[in-house]
Amino acid sequence: MLDIVTLGDEVLREKCTPVTDFDDSLHILLEAMFETLDSAEGVGLAAPQVGVDKRFFIVSLPDGTRREFVNPEITGMSVEKNPYEEGCLSLPGVYHDVVRPSKVIIKAQDANGTEFTLKASGLLARVIQHEYDHLDGKLFIDRLSEEERKKVVRAYEKKNRKRGR
Ligand code: NI
Repeated sequence: MLDIVTLGDEVLREKCTPVTDFDDSLHILLEAMFETLDSAEGVGLAAPQVGVDKRFFIVSLPDGTRREFVNPEITGMSVEKNPYEEGCLSLPGVYHDVVRPSKVIIKAQDANGTEFTLKASGLLARVIQHEYDHLDGKLFIDRLSEEERKKVVRAYEKKNRKRGR
């Protein structure tokens, strides 16, 4: 099990660097990330959220979709956008609608370096875009208006004070 870093940790703000070695250490880390994600009951987790500034993330959805995206590139986005309530394991307890393209095309590599391209819609498209942002040091609150962001951060700080963090 891995510790998930939260808002305020510098690694969440870094531009992550590409993965070059598809070796055992990557496989072990991915395995640990899937376990951590399952135990947190989340749908996605990016490497910087476990303190690793590398370009990969994992997705695990209620419909059984479960895969890693290494060195991903979003190569297409729909013009159509929609709002969807997002949360983040690095900002536990707060949620807010974020407007994003409703469909994306993503090119990435799997744990062994094999390239694949995926067309995604619905929840998968949403999670892919949220996790992809993490690799560029971006959080969902950065996609909100300044007023909305302040409100969410205040709520987050209040909740996490109560939890004694
Ligand atoms: Ni997140």
